[in-house]
Amino acid sequence: SKPHNVQRVAFHFQPIKNWMNDPNGPMLYKGYYHFFYQWNPYAAVWGNITWGHAVSKDLIRWHHLEVALIPNQWYDLYGCWSGSATLVEEGKPIITYTGWSNASHSEDHKVQMQALAMPADYGDPLLRKWVKAPGNPIITAPQGIDSNFFRDPTTAWKGADGKWRMLVGSKENMTGMALLYRSPDFLNWRKAITPLHSVNGTGMWECPDFYPVSISDTYGLNTSAYGQGVMHVLKVSFVHDYYTVGTYITSNDTFLPVQSNLDVGIGLRYDYGKYYASKSFFDANKNRRILFGWVNESDGEAADISKGWASVQAFPRKVWLDKETNCSLLHWPIEELESLHRSKVTLDSVSLWKGSVTVVEGIKGAQLDVEATFDLPEINDAEIMDVSAENAQLMCSEKGASRNGVIGPFGFLVLATDDEMEHTAIFFVVVNSKDGWKVLVCSDQSRSSLATNLDKTTYGSFSNLSGSQTSVSVRILVIQEANQAKNMANYYFDKLNGTPPPSPNRARTIYYPDQSEGTSPPPTHAITSHVSSDRNYDEFYYQEH
Ligand code: FRU
Repeated sequence: SKPHNVQRVAFHFQPIKNWMNDPNGPMLYKGYYHFFYQWNPYAAVWGNITWGHAVSKDLIRWHHLEVALIPNQWYDLYGCWSGSATLVEEGKPIITYTGWSNASHSEDHKVQMQALAMPADYGDPLLRKWVKAPGNPIITAPQGIDSNFFRDPTTAWKGADGKWRMLVGSKENMTGMALLYRSPDFLNWRKAITPLHSVNGTGMWECPDFYPVSISDTYGLNTSAYGQGVMHVLKVSFVHDYYTVGTYITSNDTFLPVQSNLDVGIGLRYDYGKYYASKSFFDANKNRRILFGWVNESDGEAADISKGWASVQAFPRKVWLDKETNCSLLHWPIEELESLHRSKVTLDSVSLWKGSVTVVEGIKGAQLDVEATFDLPEINDAEIMDVSAENAQLMCSEKGASRNGVIGPFGFLVLATDDEMEHTAIFFVVVNSKDGWKVLVCSDQSRSSLATNLDKTTYGSFSNLSGSQTSVSVRILVIQEANQAKNMANYYFDKLNGTPPPSPNRARTIYYPDQSEGTSPPPTHAITSHVSSDRNYDEFYYQEH
């Protein structure tokens, strides 16, 4: 049967309804991008975790398929948890995932172990049916590792000795680690004595991801690539998605961060907003590495249940090594996004004066792709601030968008109601710190909603600025539920004090897709589906391709 709604074609991936968390096993197979995700088919809260499955030709317009994995074996009875896909011999995919079970037949002693699943029919480009390996579970928790902290196998890669390797996230006491396993045949796996990497004091590493990046180009590399001209990225998830660029030492399968002060958990994050449990894959079609990440709700559980769904996936990003630093990554929304552009609004040479707000007329859409360039006034006038010990996020929320500053705050109000009672300020402040020029980049949710029972954390981070830079550019993807589509984007410049404001700015293009495309409201029929376990999965199939 067909569900009540078709999927929304929007910036962000969502299942047809209910709860979603981590992205799982993204891959390209026979011309289709496959995307799996942690999904509760029964309710808009976490539980009954299956692998939802969708396919796409462009990573934007998705067709929802039958669930790929459901908890129906002794080793995964309580959930088919996160994992990855690997293209093995002749490009045939294998899924690695974590089974959550009560193998010891005690409700309160659940365990995690690793399992495999293969396509039932390799000839089917949509890979609708998956079969769990008869040899499952392929890996159980080794000695010294608590079986409650043993999960989320990575995509495997092949070493020079022809053996496969993969990582499993874990911890020992408070030392987070990525355990390394090797296999000659993908079925029999042995743990290496030393983990690929570990860091004291971090706790459980969820959803590790390990992949090569080119030191000279923006193109992506097959997960098994190594050697000259290649660096590696290790990402792990605990509270946030932390990553480190380093050297993969193939002789002993260990990983050495380029800078020890940028080690996992101390150093860099993929994102300074809500972004977790991300997973990358190599897109051989366009020679790039693509990253998916889970964006959790700001709504509370009751709101999730009443609206019938919870969470989205962040828009897929292309990732590559920043040649200027050699130890950090650059991200950019995949180019396919541009195929969603419809009407275009352009403003040129707008002057932003102290305290002024300029309305960008002619924009009423559910989705906006905004690009702007702000010319800076004399950069030497910037506030002097020692930011080395500062927490950017805290500075963003304490200082706010409407304070007096020197160069900034300036930026955008998005998702604003006509009376501006609700708005989200995305703003910038240029500061002169002892580590050089910095831009404080803030996303202030404190006035995003008049409702009180939701998370309104303000997010922020610092971005480097060279002293010779005369402008800053920003791109903002704005997404909103279609049934509330009454947003406007404003230039925002509030209460500037003293020196001249960042005068005429060159806003380039502001796009908004048609209301008619991809903006159908969430499925109203599904909204009241609460936790129940007597449903048939057929109800969730989507059969049109
Ligand atoms: C991360 C995570 C994973 C686990 C999955 C369960 O969000 O906790 O470690 O496999 O979600 O849904």
